[in-house]
Amino acid sequence: MTDPVQRTVRAADRSDLWWRTAVICCLDIETYQDSDGDGIGDIEGLLSRIDHLAQLGVTCLWLMPFQATADLDDGYDVTDHCAIDPRLGDPGRFVELLRVAHDRGIRVIIDLVVNHTSDQHPWFRSARRSRDSRFRDFYVWQEDVPDDPGNSVFPDEEDGIWEWDDQAEAFYLHNFYRHQPDLNLANPAVREEISRILGFWLALGVDGFRLDAVPFLIDGPGAPPGTDHHAFLREMHRFVRRRSGGAVLLGEVGLGHEDQMPYFGDGGVELDLQLDFLTAQTLFLALAREDARPLISVLRARPCVDAAQGWAMFLRSHDELSLELLEEDERDEVFAAFAPDPRRRVHGRGIVRRLASMLDGDERRIRLAYSILFTLPGAPLLLYGEEIGMAEPETTTDRDGMRTPMQWDPSPGGGFSTASPEELTAPLTTGRFGPERVNVRDQQDDPSSLLSFLQLLARRYRECPEIAWGALRVLETEHPSVLVHQMSSTEAVLIAVHNLGPEPRTVRLPAAEENGMGKDTRFLDLLERSRPGPRPGTAVQVEGYGTRWLRAARGR
Ligand code: BGC
Repeated sequence: MTDPVQRTVRAADRSDLWWRTAVICCLDIETYQDSDGDGIGDIEGLLSRIDHLAQLGVTCLWLMPFQATADLDDGYDVTDHCAIDPRLGDPGRFVELLRVAHDRGIRVIIDLVVNHTSDQHPWFRSARRSRDSRFRDFYVWQEDVPDDPGNSVFPDEEDGIWEWDDQAEAFYLHNFYRHQPDLNLANPAVREEISRILGFWLALGVDGFRLDAVPFLIDGPGAPPGTDHHAFLREMHRFVRRRSGGAVLLGEVGLGHEDQMPYFGDGGVELDLQLDFLTAQTLFLALAREDARPLISVLRARPCVDAAQGWAMFLRSHDELSLELLEEDERDEVFAAFAPDPRRRVHGRGIVRRLASMLDGDERRIRLAYSILFTLPGAPLLLYGEEIGMAEPETTTDRDGMRTPMQWDPSPGGGFSTASPEELTAPLTTGRFGPERVNVRDQQDDPSSLLSFLQLLARRYRECPEIAWGALRVLETEHPSVLVHQMSSTEAVLIAVHNLGPEPRTVRLPAAEENGMGKDTRFLDLLERSRPGPRPGTAVQVEGYGTRWLRAARGR
């Protein structure tokens, strides 16, 4: 089978396009490691844990906002885009972090939150004070009562998207919380400020940005009719490439695949990578039903992207698990399976739980889900702590549950901090998923641990470039619970078999001729090297909730 990507991308170019095969980890400095005992994670702390990330196989770190903030939305309410939150560190330490991460082969990308600022940002403070302020047009104002209150991203917390401001004597636009006024991206002065922000962080050495809330950012009101909204994204992409050839733009575009395509732009000129929301949500539906078919349909229909672009595949992120792209009855099925307690559901669309608790700690299914993740064409992304099976605390019922302290060891502060539990920046998980039972120290030298399994998945993913670069074919099987998909390149063929159901199943591998292989080819069993690998055309067994990665080099 010939793959267009294979034909067009030379090996040297592939290494330039590093994001296509990155193993990404998303983390919040504030909850990762506290170095000075004040209960708050900091850059020094993260520095001391870089080797954990390197050993896990992470090649790209996505840092959640660490800039100066009013801290009402975990840093997504910035008060100064070029300053570091003093609780977390300073520019010198940040540069040191970049140096050490790069030394371990880890690139660092940072959240860029420029759809809005905090209402405490000096721009907004000045804008609301006077109509004559040069920052007035940095935001979107309306003097009359809006005809339509609009729908906030947080519909259960905000009545609409316009807020009256006494001082400004006008309403301002806020698609997110009311303390996050939207910037007016139609204003060239705002765009110039954004370029300055990008330029600042690139000069310090970051390897790219995770763009927050992209559709709001570029399509928001404020622009005159006829505006080419994507022009801003193209401008940004050009600017970033000019300043740093290898820097990436990873975008949060929470839409279905077809609707995401325009955000890649024609010929690789807008986002380089996009989070794949539809596949993530459908994967949870498939897990809930123990039926691979919904996932198969989505994978077969996913559009092809330019060779320089790709998808970031994830199960969980720092936000709720949104199920927005599913049909209502499908959403209800996922809710019933993974969030039977309604307190774990938010905004009518999402689940605020981590994977391990959603799967009730069943390690077979947890491993199955991650194994699928690492075999899906794209760049796998992990939320910190997933590698050891962390869960949200019993008591949290919002997104804060995703942002609890990292669990390093079984000590009372989980090795995160020496401060007392009530001084910690976020509560620790307790009980079954608490640090006494779930922590890095206990898992790191145990070959049977979840951590070791995830390290293996990351290693195999990097050893099999055909996952990200090859042609995908989802194969037919007679068992609805089984997903068999094949990725092939001119060098190798990888067949991944995943059984979403509890019963063992047998599936037949494609015949040798189908993949242009010799009859004597034997697959290597990548997750269990000691098991003799099967030959093409033969039947293979997969355990209930089991997984197999079978790989053969071509022409041998
Ligand atoms: C982020 C959220 C944040 C929101 C507002 C989202 O895209 O992922 O965590 O609350 O933007 O900035």
